[in-house]
Amino acid sequence: MNNSEKSDLFVTCASGLEPLLAQELIEMGFDAITPKYRGVYVADSSIEAIYRINYCSRIASRVLLPLSRFRCRDKRALYEGANAVDWLKYIPEDKTFAVDANVTHPGIRNSLFAAQVVKDAVCDQFRAKTGDRPIVNPRSPDVQLNLFIYEDFGIISIDTSGEPLHKRGYRQENVEAPIRESLAAAILRLAQYRGDEILYDPCCGSGTFLIEAAMLSAYTPAGFFRTRWGFMLMPEFSHPAWLKIKLEADAKRIPIVKDRFFGSDIGKNAVHASKVNLRSAGFHQAVEIIQCDFREYTPRIPPTFLIANPPHGRRLDDVEFLRPLYRALGDFMKRQMPKSSRGFVFTGNLELAKEVGLAPTQRHVLDNSGIDSRLLEYQIY
Ligand SMILES: C[S@@+](CC[C@H](N)C(=O)[O-])C[C@H]1O[C@@H](n2cnc3c(N)ncnc32)[C@H](O)[C@@H]1O
Repeated sequence: MNNSEKSDLFVTCASGLEPLLAQELIEMGFDAITPKYRGVYVADSSIEAIYRINYCSRIASRVLLPLSRFRCRDKRALYEGANAVDWLKYIPEDKTFAVDANVTHPGIRNSLFAAQVVKDAVCDQFRAKTGDRPIVNPRSPDVQLNLFIYEDFGIISIDTSGEPLHKRGYRQENVEAPIRESLAAAILRLAQYRGDEILYDPCCGSGTFLIEAAMLSAYTPAGFFRTRWGFMLMPEFSHPAWLKIKLEADAKRIPIVKDRFFGSDIGKNAVHASKVNLRSAGFHQAVEIIQCDFREYTPRIPPTFLIANPPHGRRLDDVEFLRPLYRALGDFMKRQMPKSSRGFVFTGNLELAKEVGLAPTQRHVLDNSGIDSRLLEYQIY
């Protein structure tokens, strides 16, 4: 294989979301999809595919374009694999770069060391060709490179997303333990949320589920609130071609319907955060948020779709304290939701989940930033 041959895109996601991401990409019109661990290969590395996936996928984390694939026996092979790319094409002279590495190799045990070898190759090549070297900026690079080594196989890719795609651009305020935007979108997809149900998030925190649900029902592309992607510095980037794809996706947007989205949180800061975030996404007038304990909440319009991500506690006494809260979620679903409604509880504590007191009709295993979690579905009869 040519050392610097371009190949399929690798679209990454959190583990467990691969089938959902594959399904989403098929719906977007990509047909040659191969799911792998923590991502899927897409046999289309055109710049148009790069624009569309980065702009429209709600579940993807990053879109990687492989630039070099090589047998990686040792440090020297890694350096040569990195040196096979013409870096001046991909890193403009006045721009910074960084290398993110994920390494599983019997001889190269340290990812930081492997990333350093790639950085050295890039800098040496620049120095040889221009007499100068680019600046490495690990925190906020203009060009993000990605190194993946598994056993003796190495891939160096350019990260066409830049900042990960879960950073949608609407989150201005945070709370403790917010759910990732891409995971919230994946959960709504797993729940087959259609956008026409009356949605209530009793523990809304910073409003992630409400905003992702509103974006879905308004056909607002996932990247609508972002202004920067890694692909904007790629040599193939064309502003008119990018705008064409963006405007095609934006043209599908419709206003959201009032009285369909409701949220509550007991915390003053959480309610403030969700209001600020909803305003930044432009949904503040159609989404109702109140500060209250959901156990005292009487819905103005009974919800038909409940999605809750209650606290799950870290210590043993937290768990004891939280048992009544989970029981109250079950009671809320039984008492306040009409027949044929659906309820979903997403939690990292399996013992607490049992306290809901209803038999789940489905269980989905999900990884929430390293926490083994469950999405439990309840049908209200
Ligand atoms: C894990 S966080 C939810 C994070 C949210 N999904 C997000 O993305 O920001 C749990 C939230 O439940 C809220 N909460 C805890 N007990 C509550 C109660 N009895 N009524 C309403 N909210 C509650 C907390 O204030 C916290 O914001």
